[in-house]
Amino acid sequence: MNKVSKPWGGRFTEPTDAFVEAFTASVSFDQRLYRHDIEGSKAHARMLAHVGVISVDECDKIIMGLDQIQEEIETGHFNWSVALEDVHMNIEARLTELIGDTGKKLHTGRSRNDQVATDIRLYLREEIDTLGAELVRLMHGLLDQAERYAATIMPGFTHLQVAQPITFGHHLLAWYEMLERDRQRLMECRTRVNVMPLGSAALAGTSYPIDRAYTAELLGFAGPTQNSLDSVSDRDFAIELNAAGALMMTHLSRMAEELVLWTTSQFAFISLPDRYCTGSSIMPQKKNPDVPELVRGKTGRVHGNLIALLTLMKSQPLAYNKDNQEDKEPLFDTVDTLSGSLRAFADMIPAIEANEHTMYAAAKQGFSTATDLADYLVRHGLPFRDAHEVVGQAVRYAADKHCDLADLSLTELQDFSYHIQEDVFEVLTLEGSVAARNHIGGTAPQQVRAQIIKKRAELEAL
Ligand code: ARG
Repeated sequence: MNKVSKPWGGRFTEPTDAFVEAFTASVSFDQRLYRHDIEGSKAHARMLAHVGVISVDECDKIIMGLDQIQEEIETGHFNWSVALEDVHMNIEARLTELIGDTGKKLHTGRSRNDQVATDIRLYLREEIDTLGAELVRLMHGLLDQAERYAATIMPGFTHLQVAQPITFGHHLLAWYEMLERDRQRLMECRTRVNVMPLGSAALAGTSYPIDRAYTAELLGFAGPTQNSLDSVSDRDFAIELNAAGALMMTHLSRMAEELVLWTTSQFAFISLPDRYCTGSSIMPQKKNPDVPELVRGKTGRVHGNLIALLTLMKSQPLAYNKDNQEDKEPLFDTVDTLSGSLRAFADMIPAIEANEHTMYAAAKQGFSTATDLADYLVRHGLPFRDAHEVVGQAVRYAADKHCDLADLSLTELQDFSYHIQEDVFEVLTLEGSVAARNHIGGTAPQQVRAQIIKKRAELEAL
């Protein structure tokens, strides 16, 4: 090499300061991109041979060398060097060590700037597919549980106070809807990840007769990016993935919060199997819902990573700046957090057992069928506001008696309105209340079952 032993050391007269070398190096974390870096390099070498910039022989040697490097890395025999700064220069330097001067030709018409942008896109595309599959596994689990509990009655809440009876299946399908939108966001993000920056070189493109469409095809990208300056500098696709992930974690945290509440002895709506809980080192009676709590807590990381990435990008002038090296750790952390949280939920959701009697008893409290009584009066000719007033009086009367509306006698109820007849008790029951909400989006068991069939078909068609 040269006297300061850096691939870029030609114009330098003194070695890099030892602290600066460590401070600027990214190899400790970007080595995670080795597979994608090698994949990108192989495609680049094939393209160079395809257009005649290097010979087919040279290309074969490069590919053999890269294969060997991959093997060395995967068997733990690769010597990562901080002096070689990042994953790209580590691999390139080893290639030259292995195959000699031909290795030095790999970087023709390329820069680390377009190389790293390509590596991250290859990495993210793969991770998006893995995350998407895990999300679908979780969604299947929700559908199975929704089917099992399609007619199970529980209280629905507003302001965390009992509001109206709903079915547990309906509640689980509400979670499903959130996750389905998350899945769509993930896949929409994928279309913007799946374009190839390679060929943009440092910032302006390259003077070699490269064929970017060919490289893009080899790497399975939809096509090459359209502006070299933009390609090497923007990380909006990574920010977008993190934003989709932040919303996904927000949704998981909402599910987690309800699971935590529902496992308390005050609610006791569900139980989680022991294998998803831990105990207390001091209180022998404790069984703590650690998995949902931890997922709820991990939401903060992903939100924080989003802010980190947005701030990293903010006000950056074109084109590449070293700032962008800071994109990797938040991005990797987000992917890892999403992957772990989705896995935990996909494993745990099918194992939830509902305590149907407790749910039912809770739904009977808080006059949850009061709206049904008002709707009944409306059907008998009262304007809704008047019906609301009448039922309000009946609720106060029942509250004073410490009983439910359904526990009042017909004569007692008729004191509030002469419209009330024997059939009122059909709407005052929880079963009647949920069954009556039988329209698209309603809580009736029949609707829940219809939704499950529709959603199963949608998942099958993916
Ligand atoms: N490690 C760098 C990064 O992650 C690779 C690109 C470096 N390019 C440069 N001109 N220093 O962004």
